[in-house]
Amino acid sequence: MPERYTVPKVENYFTEALSKSANELRAALKRETAQLIIEASKRDQSFHLELKAFRDRWLGRKTGIISQINEIWLHGAPAEHKKAVGQIVNELRGEIERDVIEAIDGAQAISSLSDVDVREVTSDLKQILLERDRLDITLPGIRRPVGAEHPVIKALNEIVSVFKAMGYSVSEGPEIETDYYNFEALNFPPNHPARDTQDTLFIAGQQSKPPRERLLLRTHTSPVQIRTMENLAPPIRVVIPGKVHRNDAPDASHSPMFHQVEGLAVDTSITFCDLKGTLDHAMKALFGSRVRTRFQPSFFPFTEPSAEVAISCIFCRGKGCRTCKQSGWIELLGCGMVDPNVFEFVRDNGYDPAKVSGFAFGMGADRIALLKYGVDDIQLFFQGDVRFLEQFA
Ligand code: PHE
Repeated sequence: MPERYTVPKVENYFTEALSKSANELRAALKRETAQLIIEASKRDQSFHLELKAFRDRWLGRKTGIISQINEIWLHGAPAEHKKAVGQIVNELRGEIERDVIEAIDGAQAISSLSDVDVREVTSDLKQILLERDRLDITLPGIRRPVGAEHPVIKALNEIVSVFKAMGYSVSEGPEIETDYYNFEALNFPPNHPARDTQDTLFIAGQQSKPPRERLLLRTHTSPVQIRTMENLAPPIRVVIPGKVHRNDAPDASHSPMFHQVEGLAVDTSITFCDLKGTLDHAMKALFGSRVRTRFQPSFFPFTEPSAEVAISCIFCRGKGCRTCKQSGWIELLGCGMVDPNVFEFVRDNGYDPAKVSGFAFGMGADRIALLKYGVDDIQLFFQGDVRFLEQFA
């Protein structure tokens, strides 16, 4: 800690001069307290040593500052000033004892605060330090932790920029969605078994509402396909990044909250070849040009035909390893040609299924972040441990 207070010799024992010295001591204690609290907010292992040193310096029995003012100020005072000096020193002693104990308690409390609270405390302290009577520009600055883009956001942005470069625009939609957008307009009829494939979190207490108006946490970004088509007439090319929720138990590869990037292209003559070419290009842009893609038939109510896309394993280049479970492939996304039944829901906005065609895809951004940054547990993304997150700065 810089600029430690030392008790000055007294040349002039008149009350006025001594009061000035007392006030300087008070200001010094205030500064050192602020500095101590800043040290506390760093929450270093060795902080208890600093705390002890601070205590000893001020309250230590033989050489502490309290003993020193007793010695230098009071004992050194000529007889005719003793009474007045004694009063000032006594008062000061009580104050110092109280303030030092308070500072120590405060510092101890701060050293066990959460990150967010600590940041608030340190910004208040900066104010105290700035309000000092004299500004000592030789004091070290207040170190502010540098923020970093969250790895999942980084992956989302990267995915989005790959599609922006192909002329896609970006669209967003609400995380609390109606049953209509999340399911019905995507060709999941009420009570259709396909709804069971997504463990949905419904908002409670909505029994009195008609089923299609009931609110839920969206299970995928696909509802924004419908919202986008309601707003924009064809031709469209959009990507939709966002958060989604499913009632999944958390483990190394599952989280009840995760992220997707949806894509939708609608025009007059879009074919499955366009879909394949687009996704093959995107995967190469994200994972490197050696990566190959594989399309396998699948099912989604809102696309027909549908496919599951895998990329050749980026760790073993397709030879087979632990990450790809010896298959050589890593499944990354679902896609397909927009089902004509979906266009029926937005037909009035120019989407006559006899005239337009399109493709859609949806990929898990967290999954992609895990692969790109070599992380083996999705939970790490959401636990908020700064030591993990700052590696992506
Ligand atoms: N919404 C699907 C899912 O979450 C993915 C998907 C999007 C499939 C678009 C096809 C087309 O599993």
